[in-house]
Amino acid sequence: MGKLDGKVAIVTGASKGIGSGIAQVFAQQGAKVVLAARGDDVLAFADELRAAGYETTGVRCDVTDPQDCARLVRTAIDVYGKVDVLDCNAGICKLGAFLDADDTWRDAHIDVNINGVWNMCKAAIPAIIDAGGGTVVITSSVTGDLVADPGEAAYAMTKAALVGLTKALAREFAEQRIRVNCICPGYIRTPLVEGMAAQSDPDDPERAIDAIASAVPLGRLGTPQECGELCAFLASDEASYITGTQVVIDGGSTLPETTSMGQ
Ligand SMILES: NC(=O)c1ccc[n+]([C@@H]2O[C@H](COP(=O)([O-])OP(=O)(O)OC[C@H]3O[C@@H](n4cnc5c(N)ncnc54)[C@H](O)[C@@H]3O)[C@@H](O)[C@H]2O)c1
Repeated sequence: MGKLDGKVAIVTGASKGIGSGIAQVFAQQGAKVVLAARGDDVLAFADELRAAGYETTGVRCDVTDPQDCARLVRTAIDVYGKVDVLDCNAGICKLGAFLDADDTWRDAHIDVNINGVWNMCKAAIPAIIDAGGGTVVITSSVTGDLVADPGEAAYAMTKAALVGLTKALAREFAEQRIRVNCICPGYIRTPLVEGMAAQSDPDDPERAIDAIASAVPLGRLGTPQECGELCAFLASDEASYITGTQVVIDGGSTLPETTSMGQ
């Protein structure tokens, strides 16, 4: 028995990183999963999961395009008959200096991280209402509520906005029996974080990863699967009285009293 038996779930940003972990755990927990991302790699990953015996379908979708989001939801209904769970995970993170003349990086964050979630919720919530209720899980971040380094203005702004959107949607759709929650990951080992490590220490990216790990109380980065387990719980009936909240998953990295400063 899986905690998502009988559920149909859409996961965005499911080709790699956290989204691939969420899609995999959802499938392992019995959901029929529609995996979405921009490139063809999401089709290959859905095929891989299907070959392993899970019910999965891959769809190319750019969440910044509302029509693409509507097409994604239609595909889920055409293939599996309904939508119970929407997991909005697609997101980007690029660091930049706030005073730079060029604000296109700000707009890119707003387009993908905020408007992408907005578009997907708008496309999928009517289908979830038709299914008699369900759940939405949004990937925010510990960044936004807290900020570790310079250069995170655009990213932090958009991830903080997602906490507000989570609460507003939880309130607005409670009567239709839709629960909405977000997860706030700390450092999770994904292509995104590996790219940042390669930028900060081009000679030895593993050294940068080790430096991050040594600052985390649990002594390591998290895994996409661990995020998937949390999302599966929030999406399942086990979390039936949890809505409008954010859950931190960070190995303790944001515990305020674990800094080594002053020791
Ligand atoms: N990795 C971390 O440590 C970490 C920490 C906190 C929050 N997050 C958040 O988790 C989410 C996933 O991060 P990740 O580290 O797995 O990133 P990643 O770059 O490894 O994967 C991102 C995924 O999002 C998809 N995507 C990006 N733009 C898209 C678009 N316009 N339309 C559809 N799909 C799109 C990509 O195709 C890919 O599948 C993001 O929202 C990110 O902000 C990550």
